Amino acid sequence: MGFPIERPRRLRASAPIRRLVAETRLASAELILPLFYREGLTEPAAIKSMPGVVQHTRESLRRAVADAAAVGVGGVMLFAVPAVRDADGSGATDPDGALNVAIRDVVAEVGDSTVVMADLCLDEFTDHGHCGVLAPDGSVDNDATLLRYREMGIAQAAAGAHLVGTSGMMDGQVAAVRSALDDAGRSDVGIVAYAAKYSSAFYGPFREAVDSALVGDRRTYQQDPANGREALRELRLDVAEGADMVIVKPAGSYLDVVRAAAETVDVPVWAYQVSGEYAMLEAAAAQGWIDRDRAILESLLGIRRAGAGAVLTYWATEVAGWLKAGR
Ligand code: PBG
Repeated sequence: MGFPIERPRRLRASAPIRRLVAETRLASAELILPLFYREGLTEPAAIKSMPGVVQHTRESLRRAVADAAAVGVGGVMLFAVPAVRDADGSGATDPDGALNVAIRDVVAEVGDSTVVMADLCLDEFTDHGHCGVLAPDGSVDNDATLLRYREMGIAQAAAGAHLVGTSGMMDGQVAAVRSALDDAGRSDVGIVAYAAKYSSAFYGPFREAVDSALVGDRRTYQQDPANGREALRELRLDVAEGADMVIVKPAGSYLDVVRAAAETVDVPVWAYQVSGEYAMLEAAAAQGWIDRDRAILESLLGIRRAGAGAVLTYWATEVAGWLKAGR
């Protein structure tokens, strides 16, 4: 028997050598924390399917964002649950609507120390729960929705958002919001485009988090999980329409799409580790079936290794705290 000529194990022999040859690292600046504000709450409300995540009051939202900024989290992505909903999602464009109030509060609290992003989509604000307004036949009306998104982008910019996150998967939404912002003199506000957003079962817990009113599904606008090449088309369109960065969502089951995106477009590519990914790992860890902290780090490292420059994750503050402590 001959001896092996190549011995890859040499590079794994000690912690220092493993550290020296690690190809991917996590940094708090590349973690983005999604947060939920719920209008009218007096106490933070637990989200049962996302243990450790809450719907915030105005006060607790400010505290959570300050905590995130203190450990160096790269940005926050804000969602809001309004007290009242209607067919057009009018709360989304009301300067005193739930999300615009949350943006203003958060910018006032930490505006200079981290990046404040807001979800630009109607689903939290409509009484039917769809991401756009409906045509008389009940279908989601793409172009009528674009007009609402334009107004929503302007309202979020006025509230102080640094980046608006177009997440409704309407055709032409990035171009519509970009031109609305530019026409309003807000070329300084960027667009983080959910370019490849799949119609995913992994959004399940999020529906509880925002008390979603949705009946049915979003398959006529979000992408079919079967398709990868179609994601490249969506990415190409969003970049051509003016996206400043693009998001692939969910993350864990779409790492091939993250990789393809990173190799295809020349703007930053981010990935969103969604509510169901969070819930599954927390649930297994609570049973003692996996090592929670190691699994969290491994899941994030995998997403970064696939090519994501930054990751939206509900663990952002916690993990940034670990990194700060040198773990
Ligand atoms: C829609 C939106 C959704 C999520 C973020 N934005 C839900 C959906 O498309 O049904 C899901 C995020 C998560 O599951 O963590 N505005």
